[in-house]
Parts: sequence; structure tokens; C-alpha cells
Amino acid sequence: MKFFVDTADIAEIKDLASTGLLDGVTTNPSLVAKSGAKNFISLIESICEIVDGPVSAEVAATDYATMLKEGQRLAKIANNVAVKVPLTEDGLKVCKALSDDGTMVNVTLCFSPAQAILAAKAGATFISPFVGRLDDISMDGMQLISDIVQIYEQYPAITTEVLVASIRHPIHLVESAKMGAHVATIPPKVIRQLYQHPLTDKGLAAFVEDWAKTGQSILDAA
Ligand code: G3P
Repeated sequence: MKFFVDTADIAEIKDLASTGLLDGVTTNPSLVAKSGAKNFISLIESICEIVDGPVSAEVAATDYATMLKEGQRLAKIANNVAVKVPLTEDGLKVCKALSDDGTMVNVTLCFSPAQAILAAKAGATFISPFVGRLDDISMDGMQLISDIVQIYEQYPAITTEVLVASIRHPIHLVESAKMGAHVATIPPKVIRQLYQHPLTDKGLAAFVEDWAKTGQSILDAA
């Protein structure tokens, strides 16, 4: 399973990239606003220099002609840009046009299996179903992932990858992995939560204490 980080914060991206576990980055207009970056193009340029994998950069317009121009502009930033478009009729037209030209496209704001089928037909590189936002309205976000994975598996010709978005906690990630989703885009805080277990902390503290009793040093050993 590929791990993308869902943030536009350069410091966070650098820190997480240094773990060697990061396969890509997703941004959206809200995350860009939160980052305080004043130049979107150079922000994406900087992220693409840090991470080799796909970096999602979202269009701002909602009409076909402007979205297409914005997408073409964003695609020029670097080879690893994935243009992010909303799951609307115009958005999918842009997805088809950009995909046909060889640009990676991430179709975002997916909330139903029917929408995911359309995105695959439009040649999306990634479909982004939002699990947390469905849970927020008392719907089952993980059921959507299960449905999309199952549908895509019926058609070997579909190359669209299921990119689980709006992940709020480690269980979303674990369940997505069990279902065989290709990618998860995870907020930095949740990535750090993945490392944690109280028994790991307790066990390590005991090993450190017991090792001290041996009076030895591995590095000073003859
Ligand atoms: O990048 C899109 C998605 O991950 C947003 O998550 O938490 O704002 O629903 P959230």
C-alpha cells in the first residue's frame, strides 16, 4: 500500500519524507490556505523537489475551460504532478482530456461507487473517496472503499488506483489496507499515530533498563 501525506506544510513533508516511507503528497485548497503559502505554483514546485512520487495539486475553477487551462499549467510544474479535479461533469471532462495527454489525474470529492465508476471511465489515475466526511454524516465511509475496490477488481482493464482520503485515525488506514486499497493519503498526525503502541513503549523501557544492568556497550565491544 502506498502512503501519501495529506498536507501542504513543507516542514511536515520534509520531516516525513526523511523516514523513507512517503510515496507521495496530496494537497487541496483548504490545506494550501492553512499552510499560509502565498504562491501556489512555487509551493507545488518545492513539494515536487522533496518527493519523487505523485504530488496532487488541485484546480481552483469549476468550469471546464478554466479547469483545463489550470490543469495544464499545474502539469507543467513537474513530471510528478497529479492534477486534482472535482468529481463533477466538467471535472471528469477535464480528467479525460488531461489523462489522454498523459497527465496524472486525481479525481477528488468522491462519495459514491457510481462516481468512482465514472472516474475510472474518464481515465483517472487516482480516485479519492472521502471516508471521514461520510462518517461525519453517519454514513459508512469504509463501506464506500470496500465497494469501489470490489467494483474495480471486476474489470482488469481499470488502472485507476483507489486513494483513500479524509482519513481521520489509524483504523481507517488499517481497514483500507485489509480491503486492498492501493493508496492512503494520511494527515501527518495520523501517520505518527501509526507508530504508537503502549506495549512497544513499555517493552522498550524494560529492555533499556535490563541492558544497562549488563554494563556493556555494543559500540565499544572488542
Ligand atoms: O485531501 C482531501 C481529504 O483528505 C480531506 O480530508 O479531513 O478535510 O475531510 P478532511
